[in-house]
Order: sequence, then C-alpha cells, then structure tokens
Amino acid sequence: METKKIHVLDRDFELSIREEEIMEKIKKVAAQLNTDYAGRQPVMVCILNGAFMFAADLVRYLDFQPEIIFARFSSYDGMDTTGEVRELLGITADVVGRDIIIVEDIVDTGITMSNILPNFQQMGASSVKVACLLQKPDKLKVDIKIDYCALQIPNDFIVGYGLDYDGFGRNYRDIYKVV
Ligand code: IMP
Ligand code: MG
Repeated sequence: METKKIHVLDRDFELSIREEEIMEKIKKVAAQLNTDYAGRQPVMVCILNGAFMFAADLVRYLDFQPEIIFARFSSYDGMDTTGEVRELLGITADVVGRDIIIVEDIVDTGITMSNILPNFQQMGASSVKVACLLQKPDKLKVDIKIDYCALQIPNDFIVGYGLDYDGFGRNYRDIYKVV
C-alpha cells in the first residue's frame, strides 16, 4: 500500500495521481513520439530539476535514439511563480539544424516554457517541440503550444515524481496535492 498522506516541510499533501496512472500516460506520450520521430535522432533536453524522473521513464520507452542532454532554468520560489526565469546551466549539444524535444515536468503559467523556447529557435534548431508530464490548463498565461502532454491537472500545488516543494518531496513514485 502506498502512503495516502505525506508531510513536506510545513505542508500536508494527499495522494492525487498514482504511479500506475503516471506510467500508463507516459507510455502514451512515448508511443506518439515513436510515431513522430521514427528513424530520427532528436535532441531531448531534460529540464532540471523537476523533469529528471519523467525523462528517465519516458526515454526508456522510445524506439528511436535521441541525444539526451540536461539544462536547468528556474522560476519558482516556494509555491508561487516568481515570473523571472534565469538560465542556470546551458545547452551542451550542437542544436543547429536539429530537432529539439524539450522535456519538462509541468507547465503552469507557461512563462518558463515561453522563455526556453526562443533560445532553441535562436540557436538554429530546425524544430522545437515540448513534451511535459503535467499541465495546469487553467493557469496558462502565455500563448505557447504544448505538443505532448501526459496529464492535465487542476490548479492544485503538487509534489512527487520529481516535483518539489522548496526542494523536497521529489522522491515519491506517486503525485500528491497540497491539502
Ligand atoms: P511556469 O513558468 O508557471 O509554467 O512554471 C513552471 C515551473 O514551475 C515548473 O517547471 C515547475 O518547476 C514549477 N511548478 C509549477 N507548478 C508546480 C507544482 O504544482 N508543484 C511543483 N512545482 C511546480
Ligand atoms: Mg521545472
């Protein structure tokens, strides 16, 4: 039996999305990517820290051979977006003429993603697509296209499966929402 309630720092969280459902939805995204990128070698950019678990599971269901790199941006402080996006760790692959798949944990306001996307276009990528584990559609503030999304969720603040509350709570297999 998985834990139904967890405590992270000063907050209580309850079970929201089980591991089984997460994996089922990730396999569907992998199947879409397998169709769209068959025989190609895109660059998959895992956005740290939150997407590490999603990326690790997603790539293991891919039939094609992506180049996998890691980049780190940050916009969050506690439970509220700061709106400010800083580049913390750059892109190590040559992206000129390459197909890029940005792998992100969650698209909330979309501000982070709208800051990341133009970087790849400016660097000369031939295509840039977004694959996210989760999206909160009601909170989207900017006009961006999410090409692949495993799960859409309501506006609750969540932790687990890579997602954190001030750095903690990432290690859980299931996703929990704040109570
Ligand atoms: P956005 O710029 O508002 O779209 O925020 C995206 C980033 O905020 C994500 O990459 C996450 O790191 C973080 N984030 C948004 N919602 C949550 C949440 O519910 N739990 C944990 N992190 C979140
Ligand atoms: Mg993130």
